[in-house]
Amino acid sequence: MVTPVRGTGRLNRQPPGATRGLDVLQPLSEQPLQDASRLCVGMGEIDRLLGGGIVPGTMLLLAGDPGIGKSTLLLQIASSAADSGGPAVYLSGEESGPQVRLRSGRLGLSESSLLFTTETEVNQALALLNGMKPSMVIVDSVQTMFTEDNPAVPGSVVQVRECAQILLKWAKTESVPILLAGHVTKDGSVAGPRILEHIVDVVLTLEGDPSSGLRVLRCTKNRFGSTNDIAMFQMLGDGLSEVTDPSAELIGERRLGVPGSAITVVLEGTRALLTEIQALTNRSTLNPPRRTANGLDFNRMVLLTAVLARRSGVYLAEQDVIINVPGGLRLTEPAADLGVALAVTSSLRDIPIPSDIVCIGEIGLNGEIRGVSHIDRRISEAYRHGFRRAIVPSSSVETEKQVRGIEVLGVDNLAAALSLVFDA
Ligand code: TYD
Ligand code: MG
Repeated sequence: MVTPVRGTGRLNRQPPGATRGLDVLQPLSEQPLQDASRLCVGMGEIDRLLGGGIVPGTMLLLAGDPGIGKSTLLLQIASSAADSGGPAVYLSGEESGPQVRLRSGRLGLSESSLLFTTETEVNQALALLNGMKPSMVIVDSVQTMFTEDNPAVPGSVVQVRECAQILLKWAKTESVPILLAGHVTKDGSVAGPRILEHIVDVVLTLEGDPSSGLRVLRCTKNRFGSTNDIAMFQMLGDGLSEVTDPSAELIGERRLGVPGSAITVVLEGTRALLTEIQALTNRSTLNPPRRTANGLDFNRMVLLTAVLARRSGVYLAEQDVIINVPGGLRLTEPAADLGVALAVTSSLRDIPIPSDIVCIGEIGLNGEIRGVSHIDRRISEAYRHGFRRAIVPSSSVETEKQVRGIEVLGVDNLAAALSLVFDA
């Protein structure tokens, strides 16, 4: 039995979320468990991403480029949470009441349990909530909030940080979740969400190519669950709708039998996603020739074209090379390397890659194909979507004997992969 230990109480610095007042050490086992009462926001993919709903008192940051869909998503979450957990408060410093109402009408949301204010002085805004216990508070955006106690302009680093601290304290004492929208900015004129990442409990990032409808919601920090997971949405005329089979969405529009298209499987968090990689090579009029990469790191692309030229005789010195990842996904995993290399070669030789092949593997500078993690998950996803041949690193083949119905072809260097695909 551990008994409470009384300290001197002189050091009273506590994390903002902790309950103040006791200068005694208590057994950890006597701390209340919060997890039991997670609030399900009613959107399956978001609840899953958060680890089964929002823990009371959570401060969540939804970061993303302007116009990507943060306000839309937050309004959908608020309405959904209000339906299941009681009134939710939407605090908008960016848009007027009529504007938000218009959007909510467009989204077809039930509005009766949504309360709205445009108050941006943080203490005044919280005073409005006195005596009520909303199911959730949305702050759109944190960059518009300010406190009168500080003369700095709204959006400055000090204001954003101070407002966040005040909101955090309120969220913890009232046990009400607060969801903040935060713009990602490149020029630094408005304090970006990065400075908030260590203050908040959960960070979600909404990404995507604004010109395509696909949006990826990535969880990069979660004090109450696992991170490194994603959820996918489609931006439609009536808001963001959940995509339950992202692979089907990502390769849905691919044309079969055309040169310059390869299919690979990448991992996003715990999920395997099939995605298309397109390449176009064209005789260049420039010296040096042009290299363009959309959806792929530029330097990775340069590396892969150099390896192709030096190790496999795929001559690209007079060719412009353009890589595109359709659908809006950004490939960060080296496992996509083999797909890029095969797509480029396919375009250069004007020979399509057979449509039942997926290619997975990291390429090293010597042209070797290096192993990738969770190959079984990737191959299963490919099989589920009708692929019957998988070109994978030979070091991964042994572990993959058990995958039925799909021919697993191990290769240990780029030349072998090329001859398997193009010389058959
Ligand atoms: P918004 O949520 O306002 O973005 P943010 O808050 O991140 O700045 O979304 C802006 C874009 O989303 C806008 O270009 C229009 C589009 N949109 C749709 O396509 N469908 C919809 O139902 C809504 C509400 C917005
Ligand atoms: Mg907005």
